[in-house]
Order: sequence, then structure tokens, then C-alpha cells
Amino acid sequence: MHSKTVLSGIRATGRLHFGSFLGAVQNFVKFQDDADTRCMYFVADFHTLTTLDDPEAMKLNLTEMVKDYLAAGLDPDKSILYAQSSIPEIAQLSMYLGMLQSFGALKNIPTYKDLVKKNPNRVTHGLFSYPVLMAADILGPQANIVPVGSDQIPNVELAQKLARKFNKRFGETFVIPEMLEEMVKVPGLDGNKMGKSDADNAISLTMEREEVHDRYRRFGVTDANRVSVSDPGNPYEDCLSVYPVHELVSPGEVQSRTIAKKCMAAEIGCAQCKGLLADRISDQLELFQERRASFEDKDEMVREILHEGGKKARQIIMPTIGLVSDKMGIVTY
Ligand code: TRP
Ligand code: SF4
Repeated sequence: MHSKTVLSGIRATGRLHFGSFLGAVQNFVKFQDDADTRCMYFVADFHTLTTLDDPEAMKLNLTEMVKDYLAAGLDPDKSILYAQSSIPEIAQLSMYLGMLQSFGALKNIPTYKDLVKKNPNRVTHGLFSYPVLMAADILGPQANIVPVGSDQIPNVELAQKLARKFNKRFGETFVIPEMLEEMVKVPGLDGNKMGKSDADNAISLTMEREEVHDRYRRFGVTDANRVSVSDPGNPYEDCLSVYPVHELVSPGEVQSRTIAKKCMAAEIGCAQCKGLLADRISDQLELFQERRASFEDKDEMVREILHEGGKKARQIIMPTIGLVSDKMGIVTY
């Protein structure tokens, strides 16, 4: 028996990029080897519908995403890998939870406000209730730990609040989930979180070495005060997109600070420094791409993984939904 459940999901807007690979999925992989932990990782395809309305892309993204998960090291024998839509009752749970959720508080959630600002033409009911659906994802399986990026904090907080509210009104039902903020934050080329501001700031997992070099050469934001190589740089404060990634991908850099020291002593130029970084990233991408290629023609296997994962997840989630129905006085005849 597992003593705790770790759960997280990613929307299937496209392929995974290097930021979510390093920041999110590698973190998911770490939990897999703890025999005490039940790992549940899903593709949030219902959530994806809030911004994507191309049915063919929806279908393709789901299986491509699972292949990315597998290539990144998620193992269906150790983790339950599933699609949110394999448990349609998640939508039912979301509807129930929505009955406890005030309209006003939902309107003020920062993630919602951001999306409204970004895309004022697409403010749907589905987008509005996005965090409630996310609460259903989390509370349905009684997750104890939810690793997420910092932008998702308000959504997990809402799940915590809904769990408390439900428990107070109807008696102990839900575990209060604990949030685990991603430790590894990967800035994109413009210095904002990779993949969040827009796709142009991301390094995709399919890129070739030359393209990675080219992107950093052209778009990487370095210390703006370094005009020539002889100017000492400030890697920690002012180098927004290069040095922080060195700390994540260049072996030993956190301990030795070799690159930071050279930068501060004006012993390395930004072009060379970006080149080193592009090579370290590409080394990791090549390993990933090799594994990813082995899943290219494995659609049948991916379907099987999703089918089995969906069944397992459903078995875990359905008793909670039955309990919630019961407590709220809904009898299914
Ligand atoms: N909203 C999350 C994101 O965009 C994805 C997600 C959906 C999720 N449901 C979840 C994450 C439940 C953690 C737990 O990144
Ligand atoms: Fe950043 Fe490297 Fe340039 Fe220093 S040398 S500012 S760490 S890119």
C-alpha cells in the first residue's frame, strides 16, 4: 500500500518543451522510485479545450504528449499515466464542487484574469470554471502532494479551500492536498518562464543542435550592461536567460560557479557562453530525442497505456465521487 499520492497534470497544447521537461516532468520522474508513493500523472485534455478547438490537434497532442512523458522517463509500471477524459466523472465532480464555489472569488483568480487579458474574445464558462475542474482532478484521487509551477499556485489553493469547505459542510471527505512548488525554474529566451509568455521563448524538445545555438545567439537575453567582452558581467542578477540555465544543465556549475566567475572577471564573452549553454542543452535533447524516436511507431502501445492507466485512475477516483454524491444527497436510480 502507498502512504501518499502525488498527482500532477499538463495541458496538451502541443509537445512538451525543454522548460516543462526539466522543471516539471523530471520532477515527476523522481517520485516514481519511491515505493511509498502512488504517482498519478495525467494529460489534462478537458482543460486543453479552453484554448484549443482543433479536434485533430486535440487527438494528436494527447498521444504525442504521452510519448514525451515516456521518453522523459515516466514508466507506466511505476506511475499511473492517464488522460483526464478517461474519467468523465471528473466533470461530474467539478460540477458538484462548483456548487460550493462563489462566483466572485473565481473571478479574482490571477490565472483567470491573465487569460482574460490575453484573450478577451475567449472568455468562456469553461475557462471561468477551469480552477474548479482542476480541483476535481486533485480531490477526486485524494492527492496528498501536487507538484506545480508557480503560476498554478492559486489554482491549487482553490482546491484546498474547496476541500476544507466540503469537509466542513458534509463531514470529513477529502484529503487536503499539499502544494509542492517546482524547485527548478527554467527561464526562456526572453527571461520569462519558458513556454509561458509565448512559444518563441521556448526551446522545443525536437530542436537540432544548430537551431538551439541559433536561438540563443539571436534571442538569448544576457547582461545588458556588458557591451564588450572586457566589461565584467553580473551573471546572477542581470543575465536573465543564459546563466540561470547554465546552473541547471552545466555539470558542476552550482558548486564551482566557473562560468559566473569568468563572467564577472570578463574572461568569457556572451557569445561563447551562449555557445557552451546551447551545447549542454543539446546534449540533453539528443538523449531525449533518441528515446523519443523509439516510441514513434508505438501508437498501439500508447493507447494501451492510456487505457490501462485510465482504468486504474477510475478505480481510484470513483469511490470518492460516489461518496460525494451520497453526501450531497444525490441518489442514482
Ligand atoms: N492547469 C495546469 C497547467 O496548466 C494543468 C493541470 C490541470 C493540473 N489539472 C491539474 C496540474 C491538476 C496539477 C493538478 O499547468
Ligand atoms: Fe550571461 Fe554568460 Fe554573458 Fe555572463 S558571459 S552575461 S553569464 S551570457
